[in-house]
Amino acid sequence: MTTFPALRMRRLRQADWTRRMVRETTLSPNDLIWPLFVCAGQWMEEPIASMPGVFRQSVDLIGKAAREAADLGIPCIALFPFTQPHNRTEDGREALNPDNLVCRAIAEIKAKAPEIGVLCDVALDPYTSHGHDGLLKDGRILNDETVDILCQQALLQVKAGCDIIAPSDMMDGRIGAIRAALEAASHKDTLILSYAAKFASAFYGPFRDAIGTKTALTGDKKTYQMDPANTDEALREVALDLAEGADMVMVKPGMPYLDIVQRVKAEFKVPTFAYQVSGEYSMIRGAIDNGWLDGERTLLESLTAFKRAGADGVLTYFARDIAKLLA
Ligand code: PBG
Repeated sequence: MTTFPALRMRRLRQADWTRRMVRETTLSPNDLIWPLFVCAGQWMEEPIASMPGVFRQSVDLIGKAAREAADLGIPCIALFPFTQPHNRTEDGREALNPDNLVCRAIAEIKAKAPEIGVLCDVALDPYTSHGHDGLLKDGRILNDETVDILCQQALLQVKAGCDIIAPSDMMDGRIGAIRAALEAASHKDTLILSYAAKFASAFYGPFRDAIGTKTALTGDKKTYQMDPANTDEALREVALDLAEGADMVMVKPGMPYLDIVQRVKAEFKVPTFAYQVSGEYSMIRGAIDNGWLDGERTLLESLTAFKRAGADGVLTYFARDIAKLLA
């Protein structure tokens, strides 16, 4: 093996052009999925206290945001609704209302930016009075009964024009059930991006603020979301979801879970996404806003880290900022 001084590792780092020549990981707007929060009203933009710089927007403004994203080369938008409190019920039935915020936002995006993909979460938490992703009975989350509703929710979203169904509920068997329901309804090209390895994380805190489930949530989600201490279990979850018909898989949260991203990508070699979740956004945003971190360098480095670990793309609230930096 060549050693010093024949080998000087710094030779390749001596200038910007040499560093660019040997760079192993690159970023492009194609790596970004931009999550947006939809709320009721018109020309409405509501700040989210724990996510500075992120807003809930009414359907018309979502259309404008999607147009901007498409022009920046971002391939896909993810939608999350802030359901008005009077529409939240024990059984989350607003999830099955064809005129709900998500369905209207899909139509608006398709009208304003037909070339961008739309991804929708499948789960009941934006719609339930108790804030859980599934039906709650006697303090327990009902698995199979929830899956039946999730299939209907997925079909509704696809009818409204959604391209990617992203089940985030962590019920057992939901990918197979949703895939069968889609095939039975001849939705053969609908993509499924499964939140396969989703951990019961404290980093979702600001998101629950954003969709208004923080105070409502009774208990925690540990009987369905994964224990942050486990990795082998994440591989089992991914294997199951792929076997049941997922086209792509996701690891969530992101930066604290890059070891999971790396293992999933190495093991399965399928399109693998990671979610830089709300708490990660707020930590970075807060440090930037306080002048503790340099914004541009921090955003690019954090995204590069995801890609280096093996992610094919990242859901991030910074998507627009990063796409602008890359432009
Ligand atoms: C709920 C859902 C959550 C997120 C995406 N879908 C929160 C949760 O599981 O409580 C979190 C996203 C984020 O924190 O940015 N099905």
